[in-house]
Amino acid sequence: MPLVTSTEMFKKAYDGGYAIGAFNVNNMEIVQAITEAAAELKSPVILQASAGARKYANSIYLMKLVEAAVDLHPEIPIVMHLDHGADFATCKDCVDTGFTSVMIDYSSHTFEENIEESRKVAEYAHEHGVVVEAELGTLGGVEDEVNVEMDKAMYTDPDQVEEFVKRTGVDSLAIAIGTSHGAYKFKPGQNPKLRLDILAEVSRRLPGFPIVLHGSSSVPQEYVRIINANGGALKDAIGIPEDQLREAAKGAVCKINIDSDLRLGLTAGVRQHFVEHPDHFDPRQYLSDGRANVKAIVAHKIVEVLGSDNKI
Ligand code: G3H
Ligand code: 13P
Ligand code: ZN
Repeated sequence: MPLVTSTEMFKKAYDGGYAIGAFNVNNMEIVQAITEAAAELKSPVILQASAGARKYANSIYLMKLVEAAVDLHPEIPIVMHLDHGADFATCKDCVDTGFTSVMIDYSSHTFEENIEESRKVAEYAHEHGVVVEAELGTLGGVEDEVNVEMDKAMYTDPDQVEEFVKRTGVDSLAIAIGTSHGAYKFKPGQNPKLRLDILAEVSRRLPGFPIVLHGSSSVPQEYVRIINANGGALKDAIGIPEDQLREAAKGAVCKINIDSDLRLGLTAGVRQHFVEHPDHFDPRQYLSDGRANVKAIVAHKIVEVLGSDNKI
């Protein structure tokens, strides 16, 4: 099948009590790893490109890589999504390039500005058969080189969600309930806890409406250990406990964003390969090990966290 939107996926995920993984793509090996894992597990999947990815790889390369994955795995539904679109112009560009889903992230602007920009994007995207995610509330962490300090991160206010969705016409909503971007989400000794009560209140106000969680990497410690044992220096990297994400996926959360965990897996594979084979210099050798780790991580997420296996 060709690239799809997330409409059908989200409906089934909402009703079935699971979520779809949205994995960030930056190069061929990552696209291959994600889609091979999804195909083997018969899972729908969302591939997403950030502004950084588009700058690094070029939007057209990314789009063609994703098209290749669609050709190779015609049995699974695949969405091509813009992650954290900064403004209407960026979203329009991706709609025009063939993305089937875009995120407009105006969450750092005022409520009214966020509504106006998101409404404009939804109007244009819908005219072209593309779906739209917007965000209310602010996540902590690193987002396209903007560093939001944790104490400045703001939980989503459930009192605002109905008005926001009604006035914008967006198709899904990313909310802030304690997740954050990057590999350093909590300090040692902190109790990592998502505000599942806010999620419950938001879903009570928006029955049947798909909710999105960004910043949902769990920072698997086995990969952090491999990186550090092979010359890396990642200190106190801590992520979201997987059981809390699983809990969120059972409810209104239909899309869970994961990027940092894939980066850790890729880096661990490459670092370990270099240490074990100091004589190697063929990128196909060390990138194969990085790619294998990414595939294993995606498979683990699909089965143990998202619950999206065998759903096509
Ligand atoms: O939202 C953050 C994603 O992990 C994308 O990160 O902007 O470095 O590509 P990036
Ligand atoms: P992580 O940094 O937790 O992987 O979050 C990724 C993300 O939210 C992409 O939009
Ligand atoms: Zn994000």
